[in-house]
Amino acid sequence: MTPARRSFGSKEDLALALAETVADDLRRGIEANGQAALAVSGGSTPARFFVFLGRKKDVDWSRVLVTLVDERWVPETSDRSNAGLVNEKMLQGPAAVARFIPLYAGGDAPDAAGLARTAEQLRALPERFDAVVLGMGNDGHTASFFPGGDNLAAALTGTEPVLSMRAPGVGEARVTLSLDRLLATDALYLHIEGEEKAKVLESALAEGSVDEMPVRAVLRQTRTPLTIYWSP
Ligand code: 6PG
Repeated sequence: MTPARRSFGSKEDLALALAETVADDLRRGIEANGQAALAVSGGSTPARFFVFLGRKKDVDWSRVLVTLVDERWVPETSDRSNAGLVNEKMLQGPAAVARFIPLYAGGDAPDAAGLARTAEQLRALPERFDAVVLGMGNDGHTASFFPGGDNLAAALTGTEPVLSMRAPGVGEARVTLSLDRLLATDALYLHIEGEEKAKVLESALAEGSVDEMPVRAVLRQTRTPLTIYWSP
């Protein structure tokens, strides 16, 4: 299944279009199920998209659940927190009434007790997302599926919904939804920007091992159609 691709002239155009598409996904979910669930990435790329999405007045945000595809194990007050980013950029104005489900669950590290608390928090979510928006790093990671990650195999092939992840050079410990959990979605997007990431994507689409570039697991899967959003 070759991923669909949408390219835009600017980051702003991309963010506007992706916000409109995801808002449609949320409206469709609310119409069908009375609520909608969205999982988003952190990092630096999605901020603009978050702002445009959060301003959508024609989404009944009181019926939307928002979570993260992955998180650094830090409190929301940290500038490394993806939850902090989502709250600051998306969950303002009309979207302020959405319910945010954090992955971070307190304590210094995502040990067994911490992860059990995260799993408990995630029980508020329906089994399927209405939309999942992934990002990609220049090393070919997506979510916290890092090359050399200590739980990479389990995250890519297991059925545990949420796992901890530590990887060389990545900094603090992470927590990530598994591939199985992320693919349980009606709509799946990969949002990348810049020429360097375009090159990384081309290598990821070529032959090579998933362990080297874990984003390949998303690009090669045949369960959930993927659309790649790119702008320079
Ligand atoms: C995170 C992410 C991660 C991100 C990529 C791309 O917490 O860092 O969710 O998977 O999507 O690292 O990050 P940038 O957008 O900063 O390049």
